[in-house]
Amino acid sequence: MTEFKDKVVCITGAGSGIGRQTALQFAQAGAKIMAADFNAEGLEETVRQISDSGGNIQSMSADVSKPEQVEALVGRCLEEFDGLDVFFANAGITGPVLPLNKADNEGIARVIEVNILGPIYAVKYAGPVMLKQGHGSIVLTASIAGMAANAGPIPYSASKAAVISLAKTAAQELAGSGVRVNAVCPGLVETSMTQSVFDYARHKDNEKMIGQLNPSHRAGSTEDIANAVMFLASDKAAFVNGQALAVDGGLSSSHPHAPKFALVMT
Ligand SMILES: NC(=O)c1ccc[n+]([C@@H]2O[C@H](COP(=O)([O-])OP(=O)(O)OC[C@H]3O[C@@H](n4cnc5c(N)ncnc54)[C@H](O)[C@@H]3O)[C@@H](O)[C@H]2O)c1
Repeated sequence: MTEFKDKVVCITGAGSGIGRQTALQFAQAGAKIMAADFNAEGLEETVRQISDSGGNIQSMSADVSKPEQVEALVGRCLEEFDGLDVFFANAGITGPVLPLNKADNEGIARVIEVNILGPIYAVKYAGPVMLKQGHGSIVLTASIAGMAANAGPIPYSASKAAVISLAKTAAQELAGSGVRVNAVCPGLVETSMTQSVFDYARHKDNEKMIGQLNPSHRAGSTEDIANAVMFLASDKAAFVNGQALAVDGGLSSSHPHAPKFALVMT
C-alpha cells in the first residue's frame, strides 16, 4: 500500500500495543510518523523498530491529558513535516479494575482525563490545522466497552462511550471542511493493557476459550486494529464520517445467545 506515501501521521500511545503496530504499518505504507507517548522506553523501541526498517519517524514525549502537550505535539508535526494528514488519538488506560464503590477517586479521575480529555484535545488542536489545510482524518480509539456493558469497569466504559460521542459530534463541528472524524472500537486484543487476561487464561490452560463469544472465534490482533485505522484514515473511507467501527470479530453484532439453542451452519 503506497496510499500514505509522504502523508504525516501523528499517533499517541505509540510506545506499545495498538499504537506501535499502527505506527509500523503506516511507516511501511510510506507515511512520515510523529510518534507520541509518555513512556520513554516504549517510544524509543517504536522509533528503533521503524528506523531499522527504513521508516521515517520522529517522536515526542507527551502526556495526552495535558492540553499544552497535545498542542505542542501538533505544533511539532508542522515544524518537522509541514502538515498533518492523520491524527490517531489512541493513548488510553484501563484505570481501576474494581466495582465502582471500591475504585479510588484518583484512579477514576485519571481514566477520565486520559481517555476523554486526550481525544478531546486531539480534536481541539489537530482539527483547526486540518481545517485550514482543507483535509485530514482524525481517528480516535474507543472500545466495544463504550458500546455495551461487560467489557470493562464503569469509568473505562463510560470514557469510551464518550469517545464514540466525540467522534460523532466532532464530525459535525468539522462539517464541510474536508476533515473526517471516526472512532475505532477494538474488541479484546493482546497488548500490555490486557496481558494479565491472556496470561491468566494460559496459566489455566484456557487460551482457546478467548474469543469464543464472538462469531470469529478468536481474539483480535494489533494488526486487525491497525488495518481498520488505516482504512478509516484513507481516502477509501472518504464517505465514512462520525462513525464508530467495531473491530471485534462480530461480538457487538449479537444479542446474548444460549450456545445450546444457537443456529449454526455446519
Ligand atoms: N487491548 C485491548 O484489548 C483494547 C480493546 C479496546 C480498546 N483498547 C484501547 O486501545 C488503546 C491502546 O491500548 P493498547 O491495548 O495498545 O494498550 P497498551 O497499554 O499496550 O498501549 C497504550 C499506550 O498508551 C500510552 N499512554 C497511556 N496514557 C498516556 C498518556 N496520558 N499520554 C501519553 N501516552 C499514554 C502508554 O504508555 C502505552 O504505551 C487504548 O485507548 C485502549 O483503551 C484496547
